[in-house]
Parts: sequence; C-alpha cells; structure tokens
Amino acid sequence: MSDDLRSILMPDQKTKYLFFGGKGGVGKTTLATATAVWFADRGYRTTIVSTDPTVSLSVMFGQAIGGDARVPIRHVANLCGLNINPNDAKGVFQQRLNSVMGQMTGTFGGDVISTPCAEEMATFDQFVTFLEEPDSDVIVFDTAPTGKSLRELAMPFDWAGFLQKQIQEGQKLAELMNMDGDSFKDLEHDKRRYDNALSVLRDRLSTVFSLVLLPERLPIEETQSAITGLARLGIPVQSLVVNQCILPEVIEGNRFLAARAQLQSRYLEEIDRRFADLLRARLPLLDQDVSDLSALRQVSEMLYGRAAHLAQLGKN
Ligand SMILES: Nc1ncnc2c1ncn2[C@@H]1O[C@H](COP(=O)(O)OP(=O)(O)O)[C@@H](O)[C@H]1O
Ligand SMILES: [Mg+2]
Repeated sequence: MSDDLRSILMPDQKTKYLFFGGKGGVGKTTLATATAVWFADRGYRTTIVSTDPTVSLSVMFGQAIGGDARVPIRHVANLCGLNINPNDAKGVFQQRLNSVMGQMTGTFGGDVISTPCAEEMATFDQFVTFLEEPDSDVIVFDTAPTGKSLRELAMPFDWAGFLQKQIQEGQKLAELMNMDGDSFKDLEHDKRRYDNALSVLRDRLSTVFSLVLLPERLPIEETQSAITGLARLGIPVQSLVVNQCILPEVIEGNRFLAARAQLQSRYLEEIDRRFADLLRARLPLLDQDVSDLSALRQVSEMLYGRAAHLAQLGKN
C-alpha cells in the first residue's frame, strides 16, 4: 500500500502538487510535513506551504516561518517553508478586488456589495502564484480544515463566473461601473490565471489530493462530503490516509485499547467499503506526538519506506 501511495505522489519531470486535507486534528500537518521531509531528504527540491492561520509549521520545524518569503528549513536540505496567513495575505488580487469593489460600490451603493470571502480569495491568489511559478520538484500544501479549504477553492469559481459575466456583458457594464480600460484587462488576465490554476488542480498527474481521517464516524462523514464537494469542482481525491490506527501488537491484554481497536476495525472496514476506488494507506497510532524532525522522519518512513536513491532515479 505504501508503495502505491508513494508512486502517485512521486514527481515525474513536472512539478507535483500534493494537498493534504481533512477535519481539524486528524493529522494533516503531520502528514504534509512528513511527506515534505521525505522528498527533501531524497534530494527533491521541496516546498511546504501552509494556509492554516496557526503556527503549526513554525512549531514543527522550531523556527519562524512567515508569509512573506519562503525560508530554508534548518537541518533539512532541499526544504523551504511558507506559511500563508489568510488574515494578512496581501496579493495583487486583494488590491484589485478592493478597487473593483470600490468602483461597484460607487455605482450601486455601499450596502449592495460586501466581500466576506476576501481572505479566502487573497489566499487563493497566492496559491495561483505558486502554480504559475513552480521552482520546486514537489510542493506540499498543508491546507486548513476541510470546510475552509473547500471554500478557498470554491471562491475563485464564483469569482471566475463573475469575471466571465463581466467580460461577456462587456464594455457596457464596465462603463456603467466607471471601470477604466485597464481594470477591465486586469480582470481578463485574472480570469486566465485562475482558469490555468484550476486546470492544474484538476490534473491527476500534476496534483494529488489526499484526505486524512481517523477510523471514526465524524471524520468518515466529513471525508465523504469533502470528496463530493471537490468532485463538484472537478477535482478528484486520489488517496486517503487513515491515521492513528491501533496495531494489534500494542494491545497486550489492555481492555481499553482492545475496545478502541475493535471499534476502529469496524470503521476501517467501512472505509475500505465506501472508498474502495481510492488508494488507502494506514498510519499507526504512535506512543508519542509528532512534533519534531526525528518523529517526522519516523512517520515518513512508515508511510513511504526508507529507500534513499529516489531523487536521481526519478529525475533521470
Ligand atoms: N499517528 C499518530 N500518532 C500519535 N500522534 C499523532 C499521530 N498523528 C498525529 N498525531 C498528533 O495529533 C495531533 C494533531 O495532528 P496535526 O497533524 O496537527 O493535525 P491537523 O493538522 O489535521 O490539525 C498532533 O499533536 C500530532 O502530533
Ligand atoms: Mg494542521
């Protein structure tokens, strides 16, 4: 199983974009960072990008990682990190959005238009920039909890539809809105950028969407709804990682552990049945948290094996 997972994540000539989504607390950051370290350790130029407005990434690597520029990760050659904070993402898009909305507000009045999702859109703008200028072999995204990342991804669809409409209705509306010719061209340019980014996200060979879950009721249902939501956007989920599985050998007669393991085994069966068409990997529950580099390397080798030779082979 880990061989299969490894093989779909592997870059092959082109940059590979790996997304890890799922409910809060299931192990997204653990999986994303372990995966990034595994590829970097094997010589692939790797970037880990977090869009979660928490400090997880900084804590994991024991160094400040911000949203302005990628920083090289200490003690891991070939790895850079970036933590995009949606609260202060200041993409060109954000400014443009403000200016367009400002003009519309001038036309229609302040109450008509609000931009409750501006943060998500600004975050996506940074996503798009990454998709346009890949300079890594592997870019791993540690996305925020499912619902939010779905909104992040869905917003530009609405926005693209909005742009499409503006473009179709043409200069007339633009004139009505007092938009100058340049803003209009900017909108067309934005739309092209977003369309390109979305086609990368939908391409199974460039992008692998993995969902992390626990063998429990709520994460299973959340996984189902994330798969459905992403499918609606034309984005396929390719693999599941079932985290914190209790291995039989750790039970050693402990009734509490045995009961949990039995509960898990029912959910594991359900996961195999309901998500039979996805690649499924399991990660055991460890007797420690995963909060430093050596624990991350332990996890990554459990998932992808120890092989050390891959970079050269993969790229030649
Ligand atoms: N397999 C595991 N065994 C033990 N602890 C784990 C395992 N996977 C994750 N953890 C711990 O669970 C907590 C939540 O994981 P995290 O990756 O931060 O979740 P998320 O990013 O989805 O919110 C962290 O403290 C992490 O160290
Ligand atoms: Mg996290």
